[in-house]
Amino acid sequence: MRLSISWTVLGALVLSQASSAAKIILGNDDGWASANIRETYRLLKEAGNDVIMVAPVVDNSGQGGRSVFTTSRTLVTNGEFDSVAAGQPSLGSDPSDSHIWYYNGTPAACTFIALDYVAPQIWGPNVTADLLVAGPNVGQNLGPFLYTLSGTMGATYAAVGRGIPAIAFSAAPNGGQRYYKWVNQTTQAGLKDPATISAQLTVDLVQKLIKSTNHGERILPVGYGINVNYPPITSFTNDSCINPPFVQTRMTGGAFTDKAVRNETTGLFTYANFLGEGVNRCINGDCRLPGETDVVNSGCQSAVSVFTVDYDAPLKRDTSKVQTKMLPLVSFHGGSAWKRHTEMPASVKQLESPLRHE
Ligand SMILES: *[C@@H]1O[C@H](CO)[C@@H](O)[C@H](O)[C@H]1NC(C)=O
Ligand SMILES: *[C@@H]1O[C@H](CO)[C@@H](O)[C@H](O)[C@H]1NC(C)=O
Ligand SMILES: *[C@@H]1O[C@H](CO)[C@@H](O)[C@H](O)[C@H]1NC(C)=O
Ligand SMILES: *[C@@H]1O[C@H](CO)[C@@H](O)[C@H](O)[C@H]1NC(C)=O
Repeated sequence: MRLSISWTVLGALVLSQASSAAKIILGNDDGWASANIRETYRLLKEAGNDVIMVAPVVDNSGQGGRSVFTTSRTLVTNGEFDSVAAGQPSLGSDPSDSHIWYYNGTPAACTFIALDYVAPQIWGPNVTADLLVAGPNVGQNLGPFLYTLSGTMGATYAAVGRGIPAIAFSAAPNGGQRYYKWVNQTTQAGLKDPATISAQLTVDLVQKLIKSTNHGERILPVGYGINVNYPPITSFTNDSCINPPFVQTRMTGGAFTDKAVRNETTGLFTYANFLGEGVNRCINGDCRLPGETDVVNSGCQSAVSVFTVDYDAPLKRDTSKVQTKMLPLVSFHGGSAWKRHTEMPASVKQLESPLRHE
């Protein structure tokens, strides 16, 4: 009896034995030579992960999910911070580290280059990444409007769409876009560089997720991603915000979209923040959670929102209202009457099986 209990306990321990390392693809939109991504690369590796970085050769902020591949075999201009010279190939790796790559394309294109060209070369043809990490971005990406606009998010949801778990990280500017060689061991306040702190926070959350995942399981379910935002890190001047705790949030709530503001003198337009109703209605999320914008703006806290790339409206009264309005012009074929035109991947079929255990 005693023996069988011990074996059960041992079995449970073995089953819950999680791996602490993962195959991670790292990307961003600020570019491959920016401080935040290089510090994150360094610390992800230090934590024992197998990391491949593919990021834009120049700043690609605001590109959202656009997937733009260059039509030029070589760079027309220098890479950011003169990290690569014009005339070099449009895709290349760091001479000192064969796992660090740049590409002259948008963040989403870099995700695809990483998945379909760079990773197969390094990991072999049939090895998939366990996780894609993007960022930390220089500047926060809060709410549904920034979700579509941000290149950091674009790199992330490009991976989620491919079935790769992915997390977007965004930090306050913290002194702005900086070259990775300008990261100092300590700041004037005697603390770590904000780029190092943001990278460490990023690795803390990534390692927590990896350690909470059983061997052979996915880090996140198919179609799911996470959006993380940090408050301003104060380590240049003081220690008032150098370790912001993580808080579970939702994307809607206190979120901004844009409005167009016209300058009467020049006749030109700029944008201003607009607290739009549409980006703040809680339709899909857990409405008990605070909005990520409110959390990050209310003090030294990091916001963590779970998202999916299924943008369909949920099965709720407002959805049927819209569907009903279009009948019979737009017919309704729910349930088994509908035949698919495209074959689903086996993993998705498995999820859809009525025998699923959830
Ligand atoms: C990769 O997978 C394909 C299809 O499953 C298989 O035909 C091929 O032999 C695999 N290659 C290697 C190197 O394992
Ligand atoms: C790093 O230190 C140098 C002086 O050694 C200073 O000029 C520079 O501003 C510092 N950079 C940062 C990001 O703190
Ligand atoms: C700490 O630094 C931040 C950012 O530089 C500044 O806004 C804040 O006033 C400082 N707080 C204290 C207590 O000095
Ligand atoms: C409009 O543009 C002019 C010229 O650039 C500038 O001086 C002025 O400050 C602008 N006005 C506003 C309200 O931003």
